[in-house]
Formats: sequence, structure tokens, C-alpha cells
Amino acid sequence: MRYYPDSKVELQGFVARNYDMLMNIISLGAYGSFINNAIAAVGIKPGDRVLDLGAGSGRNALLMSRHLDGRGKIVGLEISGEMIANFRIHAENEKNVEVLNKRIDQPFDLGEKFDRAFISFVIHGFPHPVREDIIRNVRNNLREGGEFAILDFNEFIVSEMPFWARIPFTKIECKYAFDFVERDWKKILSDFGFGDFTEKTFMKGYVRLLKAKKKG
Ligand SMILES: C[S@@+](CC[C@H](N)C(=O)[O-])C[C@H]1O[C@@H](n2cnc3c(N)ncnc32)[C@H](O)[C@@H]1O
Repeated sequence: MRYYPDSKVELQGFVARNYDMLMNIISLGAYGSFINNAIAAVGIKPGDRVLDLGAGSGRNALLMSRHLDGRGKIVGLEISGEMIANFRIHAENEKNVEVLNKRIDQPFDLGEKFDRAFISFVIHGFPHPVREDIIRNVRNNLREGGEFAILDFNEFIVSEMPFWARIPFTKIECKYAFDFVERDWKKILSDFGFGDFTEKTFMKGYVRLLKAKKKG
């Protein structure tokens, strides 16, 4: 069952069970160093409480936990049973890392405010009003001054991509990704009370880590 039938980020079955391996293969082995660098750029500090939305297999959560220095925590939110099972295996010996079976597109309250929220290759895969719900949920669960980090496609015009990038993008990506890349994300986040933007691009500029702070 999918909540959004046209979405390709609601992963199940073989893809969900083998997501990390598939990313390594599709990227011809480049994914590992890319994700290490991207997570280093998130800027997690020892003691931070970090929310990881659509946390997947826990690969990112474990990388983030290395920056905690044994303090603080990473809380993943995930709905795929296969992903949650893999996450729990990966985080078995990590006392600061956990995953909760929870939808990120519905309001939630975890009883505390987080220092950071991280969402990696998830938010592009929803209709825009659902993306706005997710941003609202992030805002409600971050402390004032807390930082929201979006690792996802950068902004670009699909028809202007060179063929080697355009063909895989148009063949593989779900329909929601096409309007995601053509939106002004700093403007969208500003409208939700975020500011102080910093960004870093990867993968020839087609991927961006966009960070924004919650304003009072
Ligand atoms: C493309 S994967 C990315 C996983 C991970 N963030 C990463 O970068 O490796 C998208 C993830 O979002 C999860 N997801 C999709 N819709 C969700 C929702 N409504 N609530 C929570 N997680 C969701 C999927 O189950 C999947 O694990």
C-alpha cells in the first residue's frame, strides 16, 4: 500500500531490503564517499539531538552518530518495515541511535525539540502540499535556532540538462521530482520561518545540501 501512488520514495520489497547496495551500484561506487562528505557538511556537533526524516536503512544515521561523541542522539522516522528492520540491525550496538515507525507527512510530537532535522532524498518524492506539511512538521519539532538540512536534488531546468544526466533523471525519477527541481527552495523555506541559508553542491551540481535555521 502506498499513501501517494505516484511517489517513488515509498520503498518496499527488494528495493527497500537492498537500498544501500543499489545506491552503490547505480552510482558506480561513488555513493559512499558522496554520502560521507554530505553528512560531514551537515555540521553535527557532539550532544546534538537529530531527527532523520525518512531515515531508510540507518546508513545516514550511523554516519551522523559518529559526530555525536557519545552524547545526544539520532532519531530516525521511517515507515517501511524492510527499512526499519535493516536500520535496527545496523544500529544494534549504537545506544544513541534509534528508529521509530512514524509518518513524516502527518503531525507528530516526540515530546522534545531537536537541534537538527535531516532529510535525504525523500522530500522531492511528494506532491507539493505534502512537502509543505513535512516542512511544518520539521519546524514544530525543532528548537528555535535549530537547523533543517535537506540533501536532495538541486534546482535546475530538466530540459537544459546534458543528455547523460537528463536521460537517467527522466527515466528513473518519479513525476514529483520534476517540479521539485524547478522550485525556489530558499523562498519556500523562508515562508515557513527559516533563514540563514548555507548550501553545498555535489554530483556535478545536481545534488545540494541546503541548510536553514529556524527563526523565532
Ligand atoms: C529514497 S529513500 C531515502 C532513504 C534515506 N533517507 C537515505 O538517504 O538513504 C526514501 C525513504 O523515505 C521513506 N518514506 C517515504 N515516505 C515516508 C513517510 N511518509 N514517512 C516516513 N518515511 C517515509 C521510505 O520508506 C524510504 O526509506
